[in-house]
Amino acid sequence: MTKPVIADKKPAVLELEAGTYYWCTCGQSKNQPFCDGGHQGTEFTPQAFELTEKKKVALCQCKVTNNPPFCDGAHSKL
Ligand code: FES
Repeated sequence: MTKPVIADKKPAVLELEAGTYYWCTCGQSKNQPFCDGGHQGTEFTPQAFELTEKKKVALCQCKVTNNPPFCDGAHSKL
């Protein structure tokens, strides 16, 4: 399996409104941590996630978290 690109070795800490978001799994989006369609032609697809209320989140940008789309600290081992 192809490995994703490491977009950054720290999470994107954002305060997001309630809604549906598409987290980039391939690491190639220019709009990290969200999908911009840059995965086309690869085996990756974005991962949808939903927030039911306004929330501060830490979204993984190294793309190797075991709790996607959220940071689990995996970037510290890269
Ligand atoms: S650009 Fe990375 S999953 Fe879409």
